[in-house]
Amino acid sequence: MGSRSLLAASILAADFAELGEAIREAEAGGADWIHIDVMDGHFVPNLTMGPVVVEACRRVTRIPLDVHLMVETPERFVAPFIEAGADRVSVHVEAAADLVATLRDIQARGARAGVALNPETAPEAVRNAMGIADLVLVMSVHPGYAGQAFLHPVLEKLPILRGWRAAGSGRPVFEIDGGINPETARQAAAAGAEVFVAASAVFGHPRGIRAGLAELRSALEPAPA
Ligand code: DX5
Ligand code: ZN
Repeated sequence: MGSRSLLAASILAADFAELGEAIREAEAGGADWIHIDVMDGHFVPNLTMGPVVVEACRRVTRIPLDVHLMVETPERFVAPFIEAGADRVSVHVEAAADLVATLRDIQARGARAGVALNPETAPEAVRNAMGIADLVLVMSVHPGYAGQAFLHPVLEKLPILRGWRAAGSGRPVFEIDGGINPETARQAAAAGAEVFVAASAVFGHPRGIRAGLAELRSALEPAPA
């Protein structure tokens, strides 16, 4: 492991009436990335945000915008999200008609390319994209909503993905998304996750956004004894 864990604050649980302020506070509280969950009402039952929201986020922060496309035909949406300011775009392997071509298109447009996999999808589904992808996003809930419970069996995928990476299959970073709190973040880190997405544990923390981020950070980087 060695390198620092990254925290991606997912605005799905933010107060949308105060979105700019919530993002500024997350940045000041140590978020490394802002994670933006795009849902189309088809690939997942919920409907959320489009490129205009990414554009609005881009105006209030300089930290990377990590766009997670939970949409059908994701290749149609790569260009508008990158033009709106996305630094990273992840598409679902279950939705992409030609995954490798879509990842290459994301990169050709100047962003980092990610591939996401649903809880029931085997890691083998992304194996041939490992040499191209900058990011592999392992879903630890069924995509669609914030606030769901972490699905522990998905952790078994991480050592497999790490093994392929160690054997030379590209250099993607491994991101875990869904049900992350201090305890599950620690478990996911032990399994090999490097980027931790959290919505409820950050924007829904009873003592505020900074407290939520601080708890996650100290779970991942315990102070030396
Ligand atoms: C779920 C989204 C997640 C979600 C996580 O479909 O992809 O990014 O925002 O929410 P929490 O952290 O509340 O599980
Ligand atoms: Zn997400």
